[in-house]
Amino acid sequence: MNATAPLEKTKHYPVMLNQVLSIISPQRGGTYVDCTFGGGGYSKAILKFPETKVIAIDRDRLTKKYATNLEKRFPNRFSFFEEKFSNISKVVKKNLNPKAIIFDLGLSSFQLSDQKRGFSFESKNFLNMEMGINEYTAYDVVNNLDKEYLANIIKILGDEKDGKIIANKIDKYRSQKPIRTSKELSSIINSAKKNYNSHKKNPSTKTFQAIRIFVNQELTQLIEGLIEATKLLSEGGLLIVVSFHSLEDRIVKNFFNLHSNLRRNPSRYLPVKENKSTLYNLNFNKPKGPSEKEVKENIRSRSAKLRYGERNNNTFFYPVDFKKQFINYLKFEDIRIWIVFIIAN
Ligand SMILES: C[S@@+](CC[C@H](N)C(=O)[O-])C[C@H]1O[C@@H](n2cnc3c(N)ncnc32)[C@H](O)[C@@H]1O
Repeated sequence: MNATAPLEKTKHYPVMLNQVLSIISPQRGGTYVDCTFGGGGYSKAILKFPETKVIAIDRDRLTKKYATNLEKRFPNRFSFFEEKFSNISKVVKKNLNPKAIIFDLGLSSFQLSDQKRGFSFESKNFLNMEMGINEYTAYDVVNNLDKEYLANIIKILGDEKDGKIIANKIDKYRSQKPIRTSKELSSIINSAKKNYNSHKKNPSTKTFQAIRIFVNQELTQLIEGLIEATKLLSEGGLLIVVSFHSLEDRIVKNFFNLHSNLRRNPSRYLPVKENKSTLYNLNFNKPKGPSEKEVKENIRSRSAKLRYGERNNNTFFYPVDFKKQFINYLKFEDIRIWIVFIIAN
């Protein structure tokens, strides 16, 4: 079977596309950076406006197929780079003066439904879960990582209260034979969550989310991506992020809170200071969500949250406070920590 066959079968809905378009006003032209090209939904919609250019990035090699089509149709207006968005400055130069840098986080429907990728609970294929340009797979993580570390990953990155019980079950199983497929992993998790209310989500949802985030270092990517994108924006440039779970949204919210005009005063008794240490102007503090119509058409959009800010003219400074706030996630996802463990064992 062709490696990309499942891609054609899956219907693709770019989440919150109308809201993104109304924020960026592509009818006025300009250069846009689509940091998460996926099926190309955002890029295609922007390119419909003749005065626009799009630079697209995705870490997933399989998205290249869609990008190649667009490169043929718009040779002077579209370019694609297989790259992680934390490396955005390798492919986008500040003098291109992007009007907006857009992130639509997580997985595309193509990735989710492609059984070979190992993201779905039922997949009998290799336990992979790589988005692309990875250093290790879910197989490596669940079969090699220290039991306590694994329990923490599941608890912290999956917000799964039964992290310890699940890690124990995994440890017991792998002491007999390696866990090779997503289906195998899912049945181990199910056996650890016997009392789970079957009307809720699949009992493996949180653990799969946690392992996927860890394998792809998604929080580190987001933290670095926001900082690197900010370096590239000039006054008036927009940073737009669509996120899908609370860990991501917390990072985006904090980033804008710390570095925008809406930054809260440390105490209401202190005089409000003019804040020169901001990077963004925000018109509102609440995220936007999808319309009811969109949620009806595409249930995956229900958890989407869109936040955006407009770069002001303050000179870029490295957002140390922001990084400090999330240092635990950065340390937690740092591959070197567990390489040391494997070598030691
Ligand atoms: C939700 S999809 C984007 C869908 C896209 N907006 C569209 O309309 O088709 C997210 C995409 O971002 C990519 N991605 C996730 N994290 C990334 C990262 N750190 N660097 C580059 N691409 C990333 C994934 O491979 C996936 O293709």
